[in-house]
Parts: sequence; structure tokens; C-alpha cells
Amino acid sequence: VRDSSGLEKVILTEPRGSSAQVLLYGGQVISWKNERGEELLFLSNKALFKPPKAIRGGIPICFPQFGSFGSLEQHGFARNRLWAIDTCPSPLPAANNTSTIDLILIPTEEDLKIWSRSFELRLRVSLGPGKLTLIPRVRNIDNKPFSFTFALHTYLSVSDISEVRVEGLETLDYFDNLLQKERFTEQADAITFDDEVDRVYLSTPTKIAVIDHEKKRTFELRKEGLPDAVVWNPWDKKAKAIPDFGDEEYKQMVCIEAAAIEHPIMIRPREEWKGRQELSTVSSSYFSGQ
Ligand code: BG6
Repeated sequence: VRDSSGLEKVILTEPRGSSAQVLLYGGQVISWKNERGEELLFLSNKALFKPPKAIRGGIPICFPQFGSFGSLEQHGFARNRLWAIDTCPSPLPAANNTSTIDLILIPTEEDLKIWSRSFELRLRVSLGPGKLTLIPRVRNIDNKPFSFTFALHTYLSVSDISEVRVEGLETLDYFDNLLQKERFTEQADAITFDDEVDRVYLSTPTKIAVIDHEKKRTFELRKEGLPDAVVWNPWDKKAKAIPDFGDEEYKQMVCIEAAAIEHPIMIRPREEWKGRQELSTVSSSYFSGQ
């Protein structure tokens, strides 16, 4: 179907009643609703659905570069290109009870002038009961090795950022993007928010929990092939400076991004890299064992 903005999107549904929407523009998930119809991802009210602008919210794909870790445009170009439905995806086992779409991005002549590596970037989005899984794959169809950085820039919807705790990143080293990417070690028990946060946590465990106290909801993010994790909230000052982001919207979102940044992924000709991010929700009381 077409979005109200005229962009094409795919709607996934599953028998328990949850749903997801995936835009071909950017290969971007822009909505994930649970069986009660509650939106679990953040999408800005000011998001512009106007190419070549990237869309503020959902799960943008950062490829072939995360952030400003390289000479390309911020977060690379995959998030503002038109992807296609992959009609003959190389076989990946399909899980039971899931609704799935496979997308592909192949560089144009123009893209090759910006980044001269021939690749196929695939994304499988699978919706299951209480679970949204993204499987990105990058195949090298060039005749020389290449490397890239990558992130699934996941904007989660939360009720009040001041009440949010992120667990699973304690004691880890991180680059602080607000301090010229200087390296620090996390000292807190959990990450909480009372100011702008923009960090790349390095070589994290495979499971990260985002606990939203007010909604009594916990997101669990599980990842493979994406060793790092970005945590971002712009807070009030930065929020005002971002044109496609409401001044107060920083209170209702947090970005937790499964990523490969510190050590770029290198693939040889004909090789394929595969990552995986699984998002699910559990009620907080269940999570804390009460
Ligand atoms: C985060 C970065 O991943 O994305 C931040 O760590 C950046 O530095 C944010 O501000 C948003 O980026 P953009 O390009 O979508 O405004």
C-alpha cells in the first residue's frame, strides 16, 4: 500500500493482532504495534516523508557508515534510498507463526560514485507474536574486499525518559560522541537519563533491557553479529535544534541501536555478513521477578 505521503509500504500482521509497517524508502520499519494496538516504536510528529530526507523514527538503517565514523554523509546513504522487495531472497529459514518481508538495496551508478563497492544489502523483517526481528545481510559482489560500519537505529517509544533504565551496558567501555568520541568506562549500575546522551558502548552482551517504569513495560533487545550498542537521547537543547523533531519529543523516545562500529566489518568477494536484532516486550513486573 501507499503511505499518505505517497511512499510505498508493506504491512505485516500476525494472528495475535500485532502489526508492523515497513517503508521501501530507507528499508525502514516505521511502526510496530502490539496486540492491543499500542505503538512500540517512536516516530516523530514532525517526521518528513520527503526523499531525500531520512525519516525521523522507527528503525533507520545506517550503512555503509554509522554516524560520522568515516567520510560519507552522516549514517551513510541506505536510509535515504528506495529499496525493493527481494523476490528471490537467498534462502533463510522462515520461523513459524511469523509474517515476513525481504527487502534489498543495490547501489546505483550514482551510489557507486559515492562509495565504490558493489554490494547487495538485504533486510528481512519478521513479525511474530510479541516479537520483531530484523536480519540485515551484506554481500560483497565486488572483486576486492571492503569494510563498513552498520547500525539498526531503533527509536523506542517510552512514556517518560526520566523514568527509563537501560540495563546490560554497565561496566563497559564506550565512546562518548559528545566528547570527541573519547573512550570512557561505564560506572553506573544502569543507564538513566537527565541530559543528552550519545554513546557507543563497545562489545556489549547480546541482551539489553530497556525498562519503562511508567508503562510497566520492558523491551528486550537481543542481537547477533552487531557487537556494539548506541544509546542516544537528544534532550531539550538538541531537540530544539533538530528540524524534524518536536521540542518535547525527547521525553517519549530513546534510541538503542545494535551496531558494528569500533571494528568495521570486512568481507571478501562473494562473502556475506549477517546480523540480527530481535525486539520483544515483557511486563516489568515479570522481568524483575515480582
Ligand atoms: C545517533 C548518533 O545514532 O543518531 C547521534 O549517535 C545523532 O550523534 C543521532 O545525533 C541522530 O542522527 P541523525 O543524522 O538522524 O539526525
